[in-house]
Amino acid sequence: MFILPNNVTIIEVGPRDGLQNEENQVTTRDKLTFISALQKAGITEIEVTSFVSPKWVPQMADAKEIMQKVEKTGRQFVLAPNAVGADLAIEAGAKSVAVFVGVSNSFNKHNINRTTNESLQLVEPVIAKLKAQNIFVRACISTAFYCPYEGQMDQYAVLELCNRFVKLGVDELSVADTIGRANPLECYSLFKKLRERFPDVLLTAHFHDTRKMAMANIYAALQAGITRFDTSAGGLGGCPFAPGATGNVATEDVVQMFDVMGIQTGIDVKQVCEAVSTIAPHLSRSIETGMYKLYENEQL
Ligand code: HMG
Ligand code: MG
Repeated sequence: MFILPNNVTIIEVGPRDGLQNEENQVTTRDKLTFISALQKAGITEIEVTSFVSPKWVPQMADAKEIMQKVEKTGRQFVLAPNAVGADLAIEAGAKSVAVFVGVSNSFNKHNINRTTNESLQLVEPVIAKLKAQNIFVRACISTAFYCPYEGQMDQYAVLELCNRFVKLGVDELSVADTIGRANPLECYSLFKKLRERFPDVLLTAHFHDTRKMAMANIYAALQAGITRFDTSAGGLGGCPFAPGATGNVATEDVVQMFDVMGIQTGIDVKQVCEAVSTIAPHLSRSIETGMYKLYENEQL
């Protein structure tokens, strides 16, 4: 039996990963209400928006206003794919920036119009600039297990890509199962290797829940020594350039699991559900997560 940690950190990605994939154009005011309610629930690290091309992802076109108006409590991450995005993030006062590159060439071509190597060349000077300004840098590693276009990824390629980022001095690696296809054995194997190879970097697991293995994958990653998890309130999420992928594992369900296991998150499940209830009426899809259904039926 492995020793459970006393506490874990949840990084909320709903306002970014969730809303980037939403069909309805959610207003800036409704996004801010959602983020504020998530902060009230005790979530201290949140991906709030993305400085990406509004032609590519119109849902994130209000990034500047979100950054200006969001309450600066805890850590607010913004995504930036390139120098243009990073400069806009810096101008907007971001103190934590997430860059993103996938392992798969085909995914990167679809997502950021560059191969993996071209993407790396693009983000290397960006990371140097951000670090020179004392900005916390998170590197999101997409398609670390499977790619929607190329299938299974080579573990060696994942480790090498992570190594490039660690050498560039990033503070955190968020390693993603972009299309929700990885299984617990694969997650344990990769995260164990990552934990051993990169003992000094924050390591985070980012699971989409397409095949309903995300909870099991979290437990597998926990066994491999991971204590940081990206989750999304309401199970929202998905990348517009990763066909077939559904939402991220739901914050309320993950927090509940940790609660009953006696692992502290500092987050109140009911208040997460209240945050979900602020955004739910503005979405094109219904919220089907276990804890949110209990909340709606007044069983929480
Ligand atoms: P491109 O068309 O190759 O861009 O797109 P470009 O560099 O050739 O520039 C073309 C024009 O766009 C220029 O303007 C630039 O200034 C402008 P023009 O001269 O024509 O007037 N531009 C920008 N404008 C605003 N913000 C910017 C920006 N960059 C250039 N940052 C680009 C390349 C990277 C911009 C585009 O492909 C893009 O925005 N992609 C973003 C895709 C995205 O947001 N995907 C979802 C996030 S990743 C994800 O969800 C995965 C994750 O959750 C982990 C997982 O689950 O795997 C993190
Ligand atoms: Mg994602």
